[in-house]
Amino acid sequence: MFKKFTFRKQKASSFNELVEEAKKGYIPNHIAIIMDGNGRWAKRRAMPRIAGHHEGMKVVRKITKFANKMGVKVLTLYAFSTENWKRPQQEVDFLMKLPQEFLGTFLPELVEENVQVRLIGQRDGLPAHTRESVEKAIKATQHNTGLILNFALNYGSRDEMVYAIQNLVTDSNSGKIQPHEITEDVFSSYLMTSSLPDPDLLIRTSGEIRISNFMLWQIAYTELWFTDVFWPDFTEEHLLEAIVNFQRRGRRFGGV
Ligand code: IPE
Ligand code: IPE
Ligand code: MG
Repeated sequence: MFKKFTFRKQKASSFNELVEEAKKGYIPNHIAIIMDGNGRWAKRRAMPRIAGHHEGMKVVRKITKFANKMGVKVLTLYAFSTENWKRPQQEVDFLMKLPQEFLGTFLPELVEENVQVRLIGQRDGLPAHTRESVEKAIKATQHNTGLILNFALNYGSRDEMVYAIQNLVTDSNSGKIQPHEITEDVFSSYLMTSSLPDPDLLIRTSGEIRISNFMLWQIAYTELWFTDVFWPDFTEEHLLEAIVNFQRRGRRFGGV
């Protein structure tokens, strides 16, 4: 018993040391996470898929707190894609209730921790109760100056780009912009992420090595980190591991 206790204590203090060590290095400004594997996590436990989504919600809280503590500026979480509507209605309904439940419980904590809630994705396609709960959180945290917690909800990168082009064509037709004035920066400013820096680090959990229509334009030079861990099992230690690995990489952006 005694041995086990000391081991735990040592482990805890060395984790804090690792955190402090990492904080001396370059912390990614913007971390984006494809939170995947909730369904398989539940299946392994002979539980319904929605149990995995519910567990995953708790991880969102934990990881948000930790990212804030690490000094990350923006945390974008892929919560629901434009393709996820294909899932069984019962699962979609459950997923659409999660923001309400999450924010209903944790909004006071987010306000207190100076977190700003934001949203990317087509709001119009969301059920009213989902949209309203997120919009309430956005409003309640709009003057906060800490971590930006950016939820990608009903978000698809291709959808986002098509929408940007529709708006660009409208502005071009009305004479607001000329075709030769459309630069990469201008195009970026028509995307839903216009006010955010591109992600420095993209994490995908659950062992899938694909992007699944997430921020295709924005991740052109993002460092990628894939882990086999299912999202409900993802911990602060896993995030720290990804950050430390990121710090060891040499980013060249096409240069030498
Ligand atoms: C990620 O977990 C959550 C959403 C896509 C909403 P999944 O539900 O995709 O879990 P798996 O990939 O089926 O295990
Ligand atoms: C990507 O996961 C979307 C989210 C995590 C919200 P999916 O589980 O939907 O992706 P695929 O179908 O495995 O590519
Ligand atoms: Mg999945």
